[in-house]
Amino acid sequence: MEPLWEIGDNADMDSPPLTIVTGATRGIGAAVTRRLLAQGWTVYGCYLRNRRAADAFAADVADLPGQFVPVKANVAKEADLILLVESAVHEHGGPIRGLVLNAASGVLRPLAEQTRKHWDWTMDINAWGAIHLAQLARPHMADGSSIVGLSSPGAVRAIPDYGSVGVSKAAIEAAMRQLAFEWGPAGIRVNTVRAGLVPTDALNHFPDRDALEAETRARTPLGRLVEPDDVAAAVAFLLGDDARAITGTTLVVDGGAAILS
Ligand SMILES: NC(=O)c1ccc[n+]([C@@H]2O[C@H](COP(=O)([O-])OP(=O)(O)OC[C@H]3O[C@@H](n4cnc5c(N)ncnc54)[C@H](OP(=O)(O)O)[C@@H]3O)[C@@H](O)[C@H]2O)c1
Repeated sequence: MEPLWEIGDNADMDSPPLTIVTGATRGIGAAVTRRLLAQGWTVYGCYLRNRRAADAFAADVADLPGQFVPVKANVAKEADLILLVESAVHEHGGPIRGLVLNAASGVLRPLAEQTRKHWDWTMDINAWGAIHLAQLARPHMADGSSIVGLSSPGAVRAIPDYGSVGVSKAAIEAAMRQLAFEWGPAGIRVNTVRAGLVPTDALNHFPDRDALEAETRARTPLGRLVEPDDVAAAVAFLLGDDARAITGTTLVVDGGAAILS
């Protein structure tokens, strides 16, 4: 694989590029992190509380060319976000070339039944946590940096029990578009990857995972579910210099599932 950090106008050849990935140790975030490490990036990756998974993932990627630094940080807590950014920048030396806003959570029940607590939980993690991390990282990002947010079909479609999670995903897509407008003049690109159904632990929270996967597979033109590395490939593309003219857009990675009415 081509090392991404050899291309780009402002590449600092003395140190590999620095990326922060949230929710980096399981599911899609782990696939993204693995790809970036394979390409030689340094990745500061946060997780919420699953230390065992974080340790196992760190051991698993230890032989890859890039350096992985796991950080226990809740994206809903400002102090944790500051610690994440400051430790990455000071230990690595910065600047931050990539930021992947992947961590998400949520309360799966109809929106009509959700409480203020459910709303705050979901929006604090999925929307404000991501936006605030981007705000904190911005002073450490220079021309050529790239931010990618993770979204889902719930941003644009109604999904049973998806409640406020879909609203938070619509917020991420809008926020990435807005930041692309605001930070484009500084050479910072901001995009979203909207993934279809991906078999990760997150699906265990849905009432009938098997039926959900079967139904999705049946209506997906490519005839299979999207795997975490399919999504990671799109994220890595948007982070890299081959996507240098792409900003403010949402890239759909769903095997074509959304094209049917
Ligand atoms: N799976 C899908 O079908 C699908 C489809 C479209 C979009 N997406 C999006 O893709 C992203 C990743 O989804 P996934 O399925 O890979 O999720 P996942 O397997 O459940 O992994 C979630 C990761 O995020 C971390 N996390 C959760 N809350 C956090 C918080 N408050 N602060 C810091 N880290 C936190 C978790 O840490 P711990 O390990 O400590 O719990 C874990 O590493 C999400 O934005 C999701 O909405 C997923």
